[in-house]
Amino acid sequence: MNSILIVDDDHAICRTLEIHFGSIGHQVAIRHSVEEGLEWLNHNSADVLVLDIRMAGLSGLEGLPMFKALQADLRIIMITAYHDMATTIEAMQNGADEYIHKPLDLDEIDAAVASALKYRQQQNSDGIEVPQATVFGKYDLVGSSAAMRTVFKTIGRVADTSASVLITGESGTGKEVVARAIHNASSRRDQSFVAINCAALVENLLESEMFGHKRGAFTGAVKDQLGKFELADKGTLFLDEVGELSPGIQAKLLRVLQDREYIPLGAENVRYTDARIIAATNADLNLAMQEGRFREDLFYRLQIVNLHLPPLRERSGDLVELVQNLMTRSNREMGRSVNRISVEAMACLNSYHWPGNIRELQNLLTKAVALCNGEVLTADLLPEHLTRDVPPHEGAIGRFSDPHSTKNLSLQEIERHHVEQVLESTGWHKGQTCDILGVSRPRLQRMISNYGIQEPE
Ligand SMILES: Nc1ncnc2c1ncn2[C@@H]1O[C@H](COP(=O)(O)OP(=O)(O)OP(=O)(O)O)[C@@H](O)[C@H]1O
Ligand SMILES: [Mg+2]
Repeated sequence: MNSILIVDDDHAICRTLEIHFGSIGHQVAIRHSVEEGLEWLNHNSADVLVLDIRMAGLSGLEGLPMFKALQADLRIIMITAYHDMATTIEAMQNGADEYIHKPLDLDEIDAAVASALKYRQQQNSDGIEVPQATVFGKYDLVGSSAAMRTVFKTIGRVADTSASVLITGESGTGKEVVARAIHNASSRRDQSFVAINCAALVENLLESEMFGHKRGAFTGAVKDQLGKFELADKGTLFLDEVGELSPGIQAKLLRVLQDREYIPLGAENVRYTDARIIAATNADLNLAMQEGRFREDLFYRLQIVNLHLPPLRERSGDLVELVQNLMTRSNREMGRSVNRISVEAMACLNSYHWPGNIRELQNLLTKAVALCNGEVLTADLLPEHLTRDVPPHEGAIGRFSDPHSTKNLSLQEIERHHVEQVLESTGWHKGQTCDILGVSRPRLQRMISNYGIQEPE
């Protein structure tokens, strides 16, 4: 049975809430001041505290941290006639979970209590743990799917050569982190890693940025400027969005790649560079070549080694690990300690198709961690388009054959269906199923028995 403590000096409100919550099977304790409430909580425990703000003696706002100190996992709903923003903010900062205005709407407080109780339940259920310690290794790169293992192997194999590498992949798949990982794994790691975004500047500014210029080379060139090729000498030069280069710069870049030489704008003599080139693009360079927008000879020079990063929806096995790591990162950056993610929230992440890949996952988790004032990241902290239904999308993780059929299903039903489908598609290979679902074997076993999924004869 759930226990609710109500602390309010308004006897009529207390009575109404007592009758209401009693009638739906909760145990209710009533106290009329913060002091009495604290005394009660000293000897008992509650799931939810409904706390008024203005009372004789200590106010609810003053009492809030004291209640939390007595029972850290208590969910607290403030009810008040105060409407000012400062009080609301202060209450939320001090650990209130919900803030409801008087006159009380029974439906509203009902929903708040239900959500607090659900949260408590999820806290006690088997969500996925988020490690509190820093778990990043040397390279800030996470993943153990087959695709990522191949990426790690390639990084290891090519890092110490001077071969140019072309990293391809959709936006947000980690092209820049991989480029940095190559640099950090190479013997150039103590030299500079210099990045340049080829799409960000117009042609002559980009040219000067890359190769540098002499004073007076063009209007506004008031002094000599070193180019990035010079700055990256003996280090690594990362050419991001290389598909956007104009034909003129493509020709100059080809010369650097072939002969290691270039001429700064307005200079007379050639300069040499020993920068290692890593390029990245999310554009289809094959198409660009067919259409004559990208030089074939440059393409082959850039792509001595190609490293392709698959989209997140094709490496669902990495999702749990990524979530754990990105949440750890967010916790650290924001001084939070959200140490778990609920099964329901994880199911939402699993069912989504991630058009913005890891960057999208990271943004969304950062927001959820910022909004979470407990220890468990729950589905209600995720954006609506993730929790409403599974979008019909080619290649979505956990896609149903008829995506519209998911509209009226609960997340548990979706999870059950998805587990069944993955088991079927792997021919009941538990290891592969765990990989795809990103869950441990005991957890898969539990889902199979909880959902009563039967292995076909
Ligand atoms: N394997 C990974 N493990 C941990 N974090 C990752 C991984 N891959 C990407 N990230 C994180 O995701 C974010 C996006 O990565 P990155 O900027 O490298 O993507 P990108 O492919 O360069 O995207 P774009 O094409 O939009 O420039 C970064 O914050 C990065 O730290
Ligand atoms: Mg990038």
